[in-house]
Amino acid sequence: MAEKNGGNQSHILVFFFPVQGHMNPMVQFSKRLASKGQKVTIVTTTSASKSMKTGSFGRNLNIELVSDGSEHVQQGSETMKQSVERVQTETTKSLVELIKKIKNSSDANEKYLLKFLVYHYSMPWALNIAREQGIDGGPFYTTPASVKTICYHYHKGVLKLPLEEPTKKLPGLPPLQLEDLPSFFSDPNSDPVFVDIAMQQFSNLSEVKWIFHSTFEKLENEVLEWMANQNLPIKAIGPTIPSMFLDKKLEDDKDYGLNLFEPNVECMKWLDSKETGSVVYASFGSLANLTKEQFEELAWGLYNSNHNFLWVVRESEKEKLPTNFGDRIAEKGLVVTWCTQLQVLAHKAVGCFLTHCGWNSALEALSLGVPMVGMPHRADHPTVAKYVKDVWKVGVRVKVKEGSVTKEEISACIRQVMDTDKGMEFRKAALVWKELAKEAIAEGGSSDKNIEEFVAKMKLT
Ligand code: UDX
Repeated sequence: MAEKNGGNQSHILVFFFPVQGHMNPMVQFSKRLASKGQKVTIVTTTSASKSMKTGSFGRNLNIELVSDGSEHVQQGSETMKQSVERVQTETTKSLVELIKKIKNSSDANEKYLLKFLVYHYSMPWALNIAREQGIDGGPFYTTPASVKTICYHYHKGVLKLPLEEPTKKLPGLPPLQLEDLPSFFSDPNSDPVFVDIAMQQFSNLSEVKWIFHSTFEKLENEVLEWMANQNLPIKAIGPTIPSMFLDKKLEDDKDYGLNLFEPNVECMKWLDSKETGSVVYASFGSLANLTKEQFEELAWGLYNSNHNFLWVVRESEKEKLPTNFGDRIAEKGLVVTWCTQLQVLAHKAVGCFLTHCGWNSALEALSLGVPMVGMPHRADHPTVAKYVKDVWKVGVRVKVKEGSVTKEEISACIRQVMDTDKGMEFRKAALVWKELAKEAIAEGGSSDKNIEEFVAKMKLT
């Protein structure tokens, strides 16, 4: 096979889950692979295509859509379980067709041989598709390695729920309390299907030769080493952030490129008008759905902190804002429905990031040296918040009382990061992570080497 194209150029499919926080890191990984001479086709399903805005991807990188059957389903008519099953059945058929099409194309015969399918870790069934079509495959983790390891301990029966003691020490991880575990463990009733979905990732994990993680070695050193010692071929390839914010090696790689939301660019001018380090940037990512009561507390917590704030409130959440909030905040605050988050975090006016601790948001803040106030929402966020506060020491975490966080608590946490000596220490620690993040992805860094190793292996396959 290798002789057919001179053995040095491969075609790799990267199949992602069509949600902003899951596609961003996989798109960035694709760009890195393409920059090293591989042809990469990003594949996603039609359910994303309705709102997806495509950007330029540069040389060797293109995108294909495969049907997940969503075009025949009325929104809201399926249970989560039905939707997961439908995506698997329908996508299997359309992905097979795509692979056959690529293998029969002239490109495949003349230049690039299709060799590998990188798939989102929640779709382990994609490995069977790859193997049946004669190529190899491996999962890509868009969550922290720590969270994957907590799931692994649960899968192996090492983590048992409910916890027998208030603090549990699991191999590779810091001591964890119930509130530090992913919400599908700490509150299994909130996400009943999620535990099953999370466990499926292990159905064939021991069979794969490559497991990619959007993290970097120094950031999750202990847990990555522990996983590697379980004979799992883990490769940290992050941070998965556009090159312009890190090593600046990939020309024109200034944003993620595939957007499900339209960003407000005017907010950059607003930031320009503010003093250095004077603005709190607040965002809860692309999915979070806070209660109206919690939203109000958040609004007044930001307002009462007495700092300028830029707050991303998605269109679907806007109705939860307090009445006339926009008028009341005047020059002090700006609410936008979406922004170019990386540019905002990189702006000198931003002094801290109030975040739901989505994995991408945390990685971005660390990579740009911005301290955080962690207000975890669900899924992997509580574990990320634990690391923000106690492991990376780059911020604080709000305290939850009777299921919610008060405005007083939010203001106090913001002030601690923005106004105190402790806050200065958080910023200094974040700036150290910024350098380590750059070092990991720059030529010869740990993540770069892992990507090189994969590319070299592909050439030989
Ligand atoms: C989810 C999860 O929360 C996360 O923990 C998981 O592991 C991956 O996906 P989401 O909740 O949307 O995603 O949060 P996050 O991981 O932070 O991803 C959001 C992305 O959207 C980030 O890359 C961020 O830069 C981007 N974003 C967010 C914008 O570009 N503009 C915005 O206004 C807000």
